[in-house]
Amino acid sequence: MIKTGEIIKNALNAGVVVPAFNVPHLPMVEPIIKAVTDTDSFALVQVARLEWEKFESKSLTAVRDEFDKFDNPKNVRLHLDHVPVIDEDHLEVDYTAIIEEAIALGYKSVMVDGSRLSLDENIAAAKKVGEIAHAAGIVFEAELGAVLGHEAGPLPPYEELFASGEGFTRIDEAKRFVEESGCDWLSVAIGNIHGAISGATMNEKKPEARLNIEHLAKLRDVTGIPLVLHGGSGIKQADILESIKNGIAKINVGTELRQAYEIGLKESGSVKGAQQACYERTLWVINDFFHIQGTRKIVAE
Ligand code: 13P
Repeated sequence: MIKTGEIIKNALNAGVVVPAFNVPHLPMVEPIIKAVTDTDSFALVQVARLEWEKFESKSLTAVRDEFDKFDNPKNVRLHLDHVPVIDEDHLEVDYTAIIEEAIALGYKSVMVDGSRLSLDENIAAAKKVGEIAHAAGIVFEAELGAVLGHEAGPLPPYEELFASGEGFTRIDEAKRFVEESGCDWLSVAIGNIHGAISGATMNEKKPEARLNIEHLAKLRDVTGIPLVLHGGSGIKQADILESIKNGIAKINVGTELRQAYEIGLKESGSVKGAQQACYERTLWVINDFFHIQGTRKIVAE
């Protein structure tokens, strides 16, 4: 079976993207895998710690079990998203224990998020996770820069954030980070923001984010590894397509499918109805937003 690390490298080299779909609700796993299979594309199914702590994906084991029920190894792989070292509520997390548990359960790639730490501390945490992941024969993702949105409370106005470049991944730091941490993929901040996860804003439409493609190209040149775009919901489409040509090989998509599922549940009153809404939105992301139908052959063969 071709490994996830190879698949993402293939995507980078071919200039296509592998989406990574978050599953804050367990019944989302089935329609997501069905949509990826029906379009013969390739995707990761992923869960972040906050999705079993604050949403309804229950646990690493529950997601793994649900994934195994519908797994189609030709088209999908299971990934562990955001395991923060310091979480969105500023609490310390036993991140290595979570990473080790996921690997033991069969997750095929993992992420550590030390982006709330100093550069040195972030490198040290990533190195620790790298030792664990690489010993198990899998790849790992780390994050540098501030992809805001998960914290409680309102974001600063988006246009101000974008214009100032505040929190963007710094070029010099990215070079040093990749060299010293040995990370396989790097999540970068180039104008992208996460969809809100708390309060009333979690049901609102995300502000349309833009991406600084020139900055991205510089990050690609100094790092030489696949770059990851978090906060993939609601970004201006032209910028998304341009980012894929400039080093982004994996895009995380959460809010887009979560809101489709939750609205579907409310409107239909049934999990089946919510799953149908999630299926249709996943098809839209693949066919109309990222244009990656049929890309399994390019990245995973
Ligand atoms: P969105 O919810 O904004 O799509 O972001 C998802 C994400 O980046 C998960 O890591």
